Amino acid sequence: MQKRKKIALIGAGNIGGTLAFLIAIRELGDVVLFDVMEGTPQGKALDLNHALPVLNSSISVVGTNDYKDIAGADVCIITAGLARKPGMSRDDLISTNASIMKAVAAGIRQYAPNSLVIVVSNPLDVMVTLCQKETGFPTNKVIGMAGVLDSARYRAFLAQEIGVSPTVINAFVLGGHGDDMVPIRSHTTVGGIPITNFVTPERLDAIEKRVRGAGGEVVGLLKTGSAFYSPAGAAIEMAASYLLDQKKVLACAAFLNGEYGMHDLYLGVPIVIGKDGVEKIIQINLTDSEKAALQVSAEHVRELVAALPQ
Ligand code: LAC
Repeated sequence: MQKRKKIALIGAGNIGGTLAFLIAIRELGDVVLFDVMEGTPQGKALDLNHALPVLNSSISVVGTNDYKDIAGADVCIITAGLARKPGMSRDDLISTNASIMKAVAAGIRQYAPNSLVIVVSNPLDVMVTLCQKETGFPTNKVIGMAGVLDSARYRAFLAQEIGVSPTVINAFVLGGHGDDMVPIRSHTTVGGIPITNFVTPERLDAIEKRVRGAGGEVVGLLKTGSAFYSPAGAAIEMAASYLLDQKKVLACAAFLNGEYGMHDLYLGVPIVIGKDGVEKIIQINLTDSEKAALQVSAEHVRELVAALPQ
């Protein structure tokens, strides 16, 4: 008999709550919802417990303010930290979220030392770098969620443009999770057919610009926070690929050791996620302009990491 997996959600905000809901629907594992705010994780857990009978779900959901309750977690998904307000860039969050990340990493290191850690907090590339450093976990067990989300936004806009299901669009957005992220047009297909068969270069330029600003577009509309359905869905796709050993090819912030000609850097690239975490980093042939754009994005990530408060 296999024991149910345990999933710790660090941060019980909008993304944390949505993650718990998705885990319940898919029965991916038992949920521990952690937050420093007293009452918030307990309240969301209680509400979700009341939903389990009608969701036909047999998982358990617990809310807590104590890291010891995440003991033995198989996966930790970190969303803790401030979200953007209108007019802010993800980079503006760096110092506050860095100190939160240090505390979170210490809790995970102590109580869930064998977990796969998925970082969602912003600025993403810096936070995943810091989390790996502070936990001391191997780099195949600490990954950042950004590329799946940015790629999903690209897929969604393309699907609307063409009038097809977003599920048939295969696309990668690589690089850092910032305004200079890199949509990879050369490898974007609709049911396996190159995207350029369907959309003009001018329209693709406009759509890719919208993809780069899509998180900000949501913040501008919501005014009180940032996107949560799509980030949660993206993080669950990563977690499921690990827990179920699906070996999906997903764009994620992974630690580069020479791939794409880069060293000692977390950057969004296509990876295979299976039971060993990051099982492979996939190198694809990029066009010259895509390569140049990836370099620019990587340089920006390096600058931000260097600016981390010590
Ligand atoms: C976004 C935030 C979650 O892209 O970074 O919406």
